[in-house]
Amino acid sequence: MKTIVAYKSKSGYTKRYAEWIAQELGCDIKENPELSDILGYDTIIYGGGMYAGGFNGGKLITKNLDKLSGKKIALFAVGSNPGREHEMKVFWDRVLTAEQQKYIGYFYLRGALILTS
Ligand SMILES: Cc1cc2nc3c(=O)[nH]c(=O)nc-3n(C[C@H](O)[C@H](O)[C@H](O)COP(=O)(O)O)c2cc1C
Repeated sequence: MKTIVAYKSKSGYTKRYAEWIAQELGCDIKENPELSDILGYDTIIYGGGMYAGGFNGGKLITKNLDKLSGKKIALFAVGSNPGREHEMKVFWDRVLTAEQQKYIGYFYLRGALILTS
C-alpha cells in the first residue's frame, strides 16, 4: 500500500501536522500537490487550513473523486476554532456530501492564528 500525505499550508500549521503524520506512517509527503502527484497512491491523506469557512486546496480531492475512486482517502482540516462538533459539522457538510462522508475520513486538527515557535 503506497500512502502519501499531501497538503497546502499558508503559515505552517498544516505543514507541521502533515510532517508528523508522514513521519509516523513512514510515507511520502507533498506540499502544494497537483492531481498527478497523488494518482499513484493507494491511500491519500490531504490536509489544508480553514480560511473563511473554506478548506484550503480541498477541491483537489473533492472535484476529482471520480479519478480517485478505489483509493482510501482521509482529509484533515487545520483551523483556529476550538473544534466544536456542531460547528465543524457545518464545515464538513460543505466540503463533503453525506454520501462522501461514509467513505472518506475527515478530521479537525487545531492550529492557531500565529505560529509562535
Ligand atoms: C484570513 C483568515 C481566515 C481564517 N478563517 C478561519 C476559519 O474560517 N475557521 C478557522 O477555524 N480558522 C480560520 N483561520 C485560521 C487558520 O485556519 C489557522 O491559522 C490555521 O492554522 C492555518 O493553517 P495553515 O497555516 O497551515 O494554512 C483563518 C485565518 C486567516 C488568516
